[in-house]
Order: sequence, then C-alpha cells, then structure tokens
Amino acid sequence: MRDLGILNDAGVLCQGGKIAWVGCMKDWNGKLEEDVTVIDAGECVVLPGFVDSHTHMMFAGDRSKEFALRSQGATYQQIAEAGGGILNTIVHVRAASKRDLKRQTVRYLMEMMKHGTTTVEIKSGYGLDVASEIKIMEAIHELKNEEMMTVVPTFIGAHAVPPEFKQNRKGYVDLVVNEMIPYVGRKKLASFCDVFCEKGYFELEESERILMAGKNAGMIPKVHAEELTSMGGAQLAARVGAVSADHLECVSEQGIAALKDGNVVATLLPGVSFYLNHGYAPARTLIDGNVAVAIASDFNPGSCMSFSMPLMMTIACTQMKMSPEEAITAATLNGAAALNLSSTVGSIEVGKEADLLVADIPDYTFLAYHFGVNHISKVIKRGTILEI
Ligand code: NIG
Ligand code: FE
Repeated sequence: MRDLGILNDAGVLCQGGKIAWVGCMKDWNGKLEEDVTVIDAGECVVLPGFVDSHTHMMFAGDRSKEFALRSQGATYQQIAEAGGGILNTIVHVRAASKRDLKRQTVRYLMEMMKHGTTTVEIKSGYGLDVASEIKIMEAIHELKNEEMMTVVPTFIGAHAVPPEFKQNRKGYVDLVVNEMIPYVGRKKLASFCDVFCEKGYFELEESERILMAGKNAGMIPKVHAEELTSMGGAQLAARVGAVSADHLECVSEQGIAALKDGNVVATLLPGVSFYLNHGYAPARTLIDGNVAVAIASDFNPGSCMSFSMPLMMTIACTQMKMSPEEAITAATLNGAAALNLSSTVGSIEVGKEADLLVADIPDYTFLAYHFGVNHISKVIKRGTILEI
C-alpha cells in the first residue's frame, strides 16, 4: 500500500475512454493524432479518481438536529433508541418520490466529482418496506445508466428494523429474505447485498441468513461489521465470502485473522469515528497483518455528512496512523477492490478506465496534509474532461 509507483515528468494517453499509454515522457516515442486534446498538467499531481466504496447518499431530509444534540453530549445510540437515527431518515425517504430522490442524489454526485470521486457505491436502506426499498434501488439503478459517475448499487434492506416490525423482528427478516431480495435479484438492481450486523439491528444469525439469500439471488455479500460492538461480524464476512467488511471499529484479533484468511477487504470509515466521536478502527494492525484496507466516506445524513475523500484521508493519517501513501491506495485501488472493480478503475494503468484527477499541489502528500480545501483542478471521467 506504500508503493504508489510515482512517475515524474510523466504523461497519460487516453483513447476511447480508456488509458492507452502511461509513462515518463522521455520514453514516449509514439505519434499523437491531430485531433487529440492535450492537457498540460504542469507541476501538478495526476492521480486516479477516488473510489468511494461505501455511501448511503440517497436520502431525504436531514439530521442537523441530531448533530446539535450530539454536540451537547447525546450519543448516536441514545438518539437511535429515542426513535431518531435511521428511523428518522426513513420517514422522509418513504414520503419522497423517486424523482426527488434522484434529483438530490444527482446534485451530490456532481459535487462529489468536483472533489475527485469518480466511482461511488450507493446503498438503499432508508426505505425498509418493500415498495420504498424497490423505489430506492430503481432510482440508484437509473442513475447508474444516466450519470457520468460510475455508480455501484448495493441493497441493504436489513439496515434497521422498521417501527412497524418492532415486536416482530423475524417478520421483517422474512420480508427481506422472501420478498425484497428475490425481487432485487430478479430485476438485477444491485451488485451487492449488505446488512447492518449490530446489537439492536441484526444479530449474527439473522445477518447470515440475509447475506446467503442475497448471494443465492446473485448479489455479493458486504457487511457493516463490528461498528459499535464486537460480535463476530468480521468472521461472518469471511464465512459468507463477502468482498468487504466495513466499519470494524471494534474488530477483534480473531476477526482480523479471519479477514486476512478470507481475502476480505477491510473498508474503514474514518469520517464516522470523527463525526460520532467514537473509537477508530485499528488500521495499523490490519495493514501490518496484511489485510487490504480501503477507506470510504460512508456519506449519509446521520453518521457522516461528508463525501470528501481527501478529508477521509486526512483523518486516516492523523487518527489512524496510516501513511499518506497508504491513504491514497486505500481511497483508490483498494476501494476498487472493495467493489470488485480493481481490474477497471482505481489506478492509472493501460486498459483501465481513464478516470484521472489533476491536483494543484506540489506533492501528493498535500492531498491529506493541506486539509479542508479542494485541491482538485481537473476531473477526467472515462476520457472526458469535466467542467468543474
Ligand atoms: O454506516 N451503520 C449503519 N449505517 C450507517 C448510518 C446510517 C445513518 O445513521 O443514517 C453507517 O454509519
Ligand atoms: Fe454504512
């Protein structure tokens, strides 16, 4: 993760939306076609577009009041137990039309691109009834086809138990397994199936049942694991063949060993620990233990109202002791691995999508070091230069 393969005085040739050549200019001896557009990046840093592999960015309403309560000492769990949290957002999402959900999400997608994200995963999970979950999955699926951004849809009907099933958890798990998953699978609306495996949300056995049902319907498992308590979600991820286990603030030693043996990407969400003011995931132990670590924003209205990947990198460096190089790998190539996309995005290699950023900084370290400002001066998405 520390070897970024930096080239000085380098060039990249994009053709048909893909990277056709990359190298030091002294090694270039090809000919440029006449209609080629040349960007002189001068002394800037050119890097692959960020891959934000974990977001809940399709939502309605806001949770600014909860933010204010937390600033005065309330915790995320206390707010959730009092009926806020995810349950607050579902009220707004259920009432919103597909069109409204798409409109707000497109606005965020455009802002995200300006901050360097060129591939983003979007989860459902704020509907929690059959019609609303389908509405969200269809909306995400449509954005995937309509927008420049590479959008990867994930189904997480098991994000929380909705109020109408409070006394009947099994009834809700049955609904997810017997109605939502088969529909989403049949219509091919999602690439991944996720679950919030956590006390008060979904127990281990329930999570396993849901992930296996998703897998049988053609969706690759992902797990929200070990966020607030250590309960074996990492081992579950390895057992079901998940591509990633996400959060991991409370992961145990055995959990880390299981991730390594199972080749599961550990997706860390530094913005959540920062925003909720709880512990950070043990990034050093994971990396030193040879687990592939990705970082993502988890952009959502409750636990991280930010989609800035450079900010996540700064927090990863200052609070989790990742090196700036590791943070860049985690935000690009390892994020791609967490979406099974490492052969197409996440690095500047011949044959991959031409998703490139030009950052107006003297050195790549400045991305994390000089924080709170946007250094991205150009975004190139599949070879198209975007107006930003
Ligand atoms: O990843 N942990 C579960 N889900 C989200 C939080 C969503 C919310 O609070 O609205 C997360 O942090
Ligand atoms: Fe999440």
